[in-house]
Amino acid sequence: MKTVFLKLLALTLAALLFVASGESSYAQSSDEPAAVDRTATGGAQTLEDILRRQRGEVVPLDAGTGDSEGSATTGPLGTQGGLSDSELWRRARQGQTFSTTSQDPNASFLVQDEGAKWLETRQSTLPTYTMYAILAMLILLTLFLLIRGRIRIMSGWSSIKIQRFSFIERFGHWLLATSFIVLAITGLALLFGREYLVPAIDWVHAKMNPDAIEPNYGKEAYAWFAGVGKWVHDNVAWAFMLSLIMIFIMWVFRNIPTWTDVKWLAQLGGMLRQHGHPHARKFNGGQKILFWLVIILGGSLSASGIALLQPYEYSMFSATFEKLNAAGEAVGYTLALNTALTPIQEMQYAQQWHTIIAVVMIVVVIAHIYIGSVGMQGAFSAMGSGKVDLNWAREHHDMWVAKLEKKGKIPRPAGASNPSTRDMPLRAPKKPTVPAE
Ligand code: HEM
Repeated sequence: MKTVFLKLLALTLAALLFVASGESSYAQSSDEPAAVDRTATGGAQTLEDILRRQRGEVVPLDAGTGDSEGSATTGPLGTQGGLSDSELWRRARQGQTFSTTSQDPNASFLVQDEGAKWLETRQSTLPTYTMYAILAMLILLTLFLLIRGRIRIMSGWSSIKIQRFSFIERFGHWLLATSFIVLAITGLALLFGREYLVPAIDWVHAKMNPDAIEPNYGKEAYAWFAGVGKWVHDNVAWAFMLSLIMIFIMWVFRNIPTWTDVKWLAQLGGMLRQHGHPHARKFNGGQKILFWLVIILGGSLSASGIALLQPYEYSMFSATFEKLNAAGEAVGYTLALNTALTPIQEMQYAQQWHTIIAVVMIVVVIAHIYIGSVGMQGAFSAMGSGKVDLNWAREHHDMWVAKLEKKGKIPRPAGASNPSTRDMPLRAPKKPTVPAE
């Protein structure tokens, strides 16, 4: 029994040894790269290497890496044969140049490190701070409304309406307003899409259809919306640009800053006190700031938008950086901004700038919409019917009213014999002297 057991043990051991030695010899024979003479290619891969790879055979790891500096393989015209992908990309990131037959200037950039930073900014930083900025403005306005309340017509409504804006002015304003609001909604939807909208759509969908199992519902719904939204955004932009030109032509002369505006701004337009407003012409200091912000930021928004609509056509950031560098030098300050931006860097800057400017404008416009509607009694009709109450006009734009009076353009109340509205008991005169415009 003992002998049989020992024999069995010996047989098992022998079998195991055989299998092990067989496996290792198999592995050795298949892994063992057959020697290839690469002297003709200077160490680079040969045709034989390529054919062997195509046959699925193992090719020695160092085949054709031709690592030595300046060898036929790593030079600009070398084959780079045998380089593993990761090695190739690493070298591209480290700045090694490669050659291409493509005529597309962008094809000459295999790897652009800034792309990763741009993506991070696009996906995380910009949406997050945009959200903060909009929420902060909404909170500020709510607090302002709660603490200060509506800005009311102190002397009450009069029975007289005076023309403030003509039809064409109102048309220009509403074209600007509607196009901007559409652009803001579609733009923000594109900015917030993946991070916020897709999960939000999924959440609402799951609440409404608890039994439905549609893991891609949010993504698909958003994809449709993003497609339509992008088309709308790209096309409504032209209406925005047109209205920007319109309001610039119509209102530029009335928005030239004066000392009256500085004084108006120094008193914060009298907004924080309950009685009395500083002197103002047709547009006060605050409105002039809004006007120039809309023109300058809107112009910049349009320029960067056109750069995004026609990719790789413009070098506006290189040109701007050049001018900024020169301006810095002029005042003895070295800015050293990169003036040799690649086409893709130009696009990245255009995208980031477009978003930042849009967000600043959105925040400013939210405040404007508040003041032009709920925030100030009597303001909306200026852009609605085009007419405003005379008392409102006197309180907010006294110098403008004085000028109209001088020209005899203020209508008389029914039954009044004196054409001068100054004699009418419309309000207690808080500012007896109105400087001439
Ligand atoms: C629903 C939205 C909006 C409302 C209710 C609104 C309301 C008004 C009102 C009532 C005025 C005349 C103020 C006055 O008589 O002195 C005005 C003027 C103006 N609005 Fe708007 N607006 C809106 C949207 C926009 C948008 C989106 C923009 C720009 C992108 C804009 C730009 C302007 C400019 C530049 C002026 C002239 C300067 C001023 O009066 O502040 N508005 N708006």
